[in-house]
Amino acid sequence: MADSRDAMMERLLDDAGIREGMRVLDVGCAFGALTFLVAKRVGRTGHVVGVDRDPQLLSMARAKAQEQGLSNVTFIEADLAEVPPEQGLFDAVTGRRVLMYQPDAVAALRGLVRAVKPGGLVVFQENDASIGPVSLPPLPLHRRVSEWTWRTVEREGADLHMGFHLAPAMEQAGLSVEHVRAEAILQTPKVHHAMAPILRAMLPRIVRHGVATEEEMGIDTIDARLLEERTKANTTYMGEMVFGAWARKPSAS
Ligand SMILES: C[S@@+](CC[C@H](N)C(=O)[O-])C[C@H]1O[C@@H](n2cnc3c(N)ncnc32)[C@H](O)[C@@H]1O
Repeated sequence: MADSRDAMMERLLDDAGIREGMRVLDVGCAFGALTFLVAKRVGRTGHVVGVDRDPQLLSMARAKAQEQGLSNVTFIEADLAEVPPEQGLFDAVTGRRVLMYQPDAVAALRGLVRAVKPGGLVVFQENDASIGPVSLPPLPLHRRVSEWTWRTVEREGADLHMGFHLAPAMEQAGLSVEHVRAEAILQTPKVHHAMAPILRAMLPRIVRHGVATEEEMGIDTIDARLLEERTKANTTYMGEMVFGAWARKPSAS
């Protein structure tokens, strides 16, 4: 059975030492997918503050927290590099697929490190398009879908190689990198990654940036066509690499 992105993230948080009772800042939290994973881990004695600059996504995150009756999460609207000092200092900062969207990832890291206690942790998971998509034999539709999504985020200014850039950026921001890893997102005829839902969610942006037209994507039949291609080829498809790293803010001397 291939691993999901969440399973990789859980292992990263575990290995980095994100534990019960910690105060954690989750940056670029969007609608809270990672924030809720962290909230479960820090438990009732800990707390997670999710920060994002998109108020609509934050409303969704708050509604989800309320639905789940979570009292150990709060969400604030801010730029991740300018978290208000009244939030206090955190034991750790987490983030997933966020640094790739910063015009200057090192400057963003420097800004958010101000919110971390001396000796505190900074843990990120970032995607990378340097390797993949790969499969034997090739899966042309899978490759095309991957190309549409990567080209779109690239036109929005994203760094498609943030995975490889992650550990060096942390060091340049004055952090001490303790661990870096890369894992592959795999699909098989039985294991599916949410390619079609991601394409559907990105459709207006893909069209707006002139990467592909709705007709080219054939969105109504995309799930079935992807599954058919993978099943017929009976192969394993590697879409992208996911890098994880954690680093520590130097202790005050
Ligand atoms: C791909 S989503 C991340 C999703 C989320 N971390 C998760 O794992 O489900 C990127 C998010 O980062 C937010 N973001 C990007 N740059 C930001 C910044 N400088 N300050 C605050 N939020 C930012 C965007 O608004 C968006 O919600």
